[in-house]
Amino acid sequence: MARIDQETVQRILDAADIVEVVSDFVKLRRSGANYKGLCPFHNERTPSFSVNKARNICKCFSCGKGGSPVNFIMEHEQMSYQEALRYLARKYNIEIKERELSDQEREQQSRREALLAVNAFALEHFEHNLSDTADGQNIAMAYLRHRGMSDAMIKRFHLGYSIDKGNELLQAARAAGFADENLIATGLEVRSERDGSLYDRYRGRIIFPIHTLSGRVVGFGGRTMRSDKNIAKYVNSPESDIYHKKNELYGLYQARAAIGRRDKCIMVEGYFDVISMHQAGVENVVASSGTSLTEEQIRVIHRFTENVTLIYDADAAGIHASLRGINLLLAEKMNVRVLALPAGDDPDSFAQNHSASEVERYIAENETDIIAFMTDKLMADVPAGDPSAKAKAINEILKSIAWVDEPVKRQEYISQCSRMLDIPEDVLIRQLNIFIARRYEDAEKEARREQARQSIAGITDKKDKPENESAASESETAEESSDAPLLDLNNNTLKPFEEMLVRYVVRYGLMYVFDMSTPDGEIVPATVYDIICNGLAADSYTMSYKPFAAVLDAFDKIRHGDWENDRKAKLKEIEADCARKMEEMREEIRRNGSSLQDIEKKEKLAQRDIEKFRKESIEEFDMLYGQNKLINSADNDVRTVASSLLIERYTLSRIYTKGAHIESEQDQLTTLVPRAIDELRSAIVTEMIKKLTSKLINLNSDNEAEAAEIMEQLACWKEYQKQLGKLLGERIILPKQRF
Ligand code: CTP
Ligand code: MN
Repeated sequence: MARIDQETVQRILDAADIVEVVSDFVKLRRSGANYKGLCPFHNERTPSFSVNKARNICKCFSCGKGGSPVNFIMEHEQMSYQEALRYLARKYNIEIKERELSDQEREQQSRREALLAVNAFALEHFEHNLSDTADGQNIAMAYLRHRGMSDAMIKRFHLGYSIDKGNELLQAARAAGFADENLIATGLEVRSERDGSLYDRYRGRIIFPIHTLSGRVVGFGGRTMRSDKNIAKYVNSPESDIYHKKNELYGLYQARAAIGRRDKCIMVEGYFDVISMHQAGVENVVASSGTSLTEEQIRVIHRFTENVTLIYDADAAGIHASLRGINLLLAEKMNVRVLALPAGDDPDSFAQNHSASEVERYIAENETDIIAFMTDKLMADVPAGDPSAKAKAINEILKSIAWVDEPVKRQEYISQCSRMLDIPEDVLIRQLNIFIARRYEDAEKEARREQARQSIAGITDKKDKPENESAASESETAEESSDAPLLDLNNNTLKPFEEMLVRYVVRYGLMYVFDMSTPDGEIVPATVYDIICNGLAADSYTMSYKPFAAVLDAFDKIRHGDWENDRKAKLKEIEADCARKMEEMREEIRRNGSSLQDIEKKEKLAQRDIEKFRKESIEEFDMLYGQNKLINSADNDVRTVASSLLIERYTLSRIYTKGAHIESEQDQLTTLVPRAIDELRSAIVTEMIKKLTSKLINLNSDNEAEAAEIMEQLACWKEYQKQLGKLLGERIILPKQRF
């Protein structure tokens, strides 16, 4: 490519305004003297990308990328310096005098550029076919007219036509000097498996070009005009060096200004839906092209707005199908609304049959927050008196709420659902926590898989990581994992026993179910966590498995943090609730009571109910308080361990006692927790004895003094073991190991 002369370069640099240039890709908000937005170079949810208009530069304070308008375009569009200048020249209508490219220069163009050039050629060719050929007019234009497309929209979306004769595009592209290889790479041509010849992929189809944000055509969709069910309605570009389906949204190039202006992005499914909406005057519309939204697409939208409205057909099936997309939107902190069109309509038909103001009004009046919408729709489908169908629907809703990261918003959703479903908030929250835990666990698993992938890649590609760095981190972890003061065990013997205790802490840590005597003989109530701490003499024993130790550390902070105060406030609230409830019941009883005796009897029963309510309310609070904090911990280990231990099905926790009566784990804590402590102690003792014995065996025969000492220690441990054995009886249950 010819170099641009210095004078023109200067004109381009002078014209390029950083706010204008960046605004084409990032929604900027004024912030003091500067502008701020979400960084386009890394994934973030709070804006750290700052634009300084006076100095004409931009910079991300998180990832550090940025610079002048040219730097920005080079980085963002992956362009060379020369290409970025040309881009800016186009934007600011600055003329660059080009001469014909030499063969050599054409060869030098990057592969990407070559493919983009092929697409640009094809697009022009398709547009020309549509407007300037007889077939284009008679067949394709007639079809588009029949579909109600205006000239303005055909031009704006650069619709085209691939002529259905021979391999018309192939001939034209070859004549213009494009290499077969690039025609295949872009997907415009397909090699026939039968005889190896090339044929036009989109022949006989209407062409919808797919533009990037900067207006370059990276792919095409081609719609057949035939109604034959045996041929695909659409044929689309394959993945290529320039086209990654997951990154692109149809119509974004045409919609982005309106999305910024209206601070809202409307999502529809198809090409025609987008264009008809634009034609009706609603321009902030893009399409996911019939697939579920991807994280990449959502990130791009987020640069322009936080508000997304999904337009659906009237049935709830659509909601199920795109649940993943909706959850990703929620996770990205987007405000998600949904709009159902009148039965029988899609956005295309609706926009074609209504005026702009009617469409706008319909949207404004009918769009509903996604969670309320789901609750409504899913519950409407539940047959009356089918509790399992109802539970399924509720779980579906809670799973979506689990993707909301902002605690305030999450709480609002829970309150709303509690009202709509007439289910107490606490019940919903308990279930919600399980889904949140599961979400973290899935993310954790994914991260581990990713790590594994990378370490495999690291073996094949050593230069990724300097040798000394990886060696350093290895020795560090080795040191850390042997960090057990009581015993230096390098096996996992104790882990299952430790897990059992950590599990009780995670699930019930703050529940007051014990009495404990203090050193000066006073009896005080104690929580599950207190008992475990005490039982393990936590200051001298550290869990041998590091993540468990992290959980206990975290829990210690929760136990001795705001909890007691928060609990007092909650108790007050519960007391007020109880008093109000009791008053209401008392009034009711007095009004309806037949005799004084009857009234007294009923009041006693009411008192019992209130008592039960009080007890359950505070238990619920204690249980959820710790779980919530652990699950939302900033520490990965803590979250992962807590999540797994919360999720685990209640198989271990069901205990069969006499008469096959099943009691819940929660009711059995006073037995289970001390037993688990003893089991861990016993395991420690066994290990200790093993260690001392092997030391004794390996001792030099002349070292009698030390041998005597070890034997004495052994005797102590063995005595202790005997006592523990009595305490534990025959049943030392080995919990299943999962970590
Ligand atoms: N789609 C596709 N391949 C198909 C069917 C659909 O890629 N075989 C994608 C297209 O992006 C299409 C979108 O899914 O725009 C929605 O599909 P559909 O609603 O069937 O098509 P419409 O765009 O509504 O087309 P029309 O109105 O002409 O039926
Ligand atoms: Mn349609």
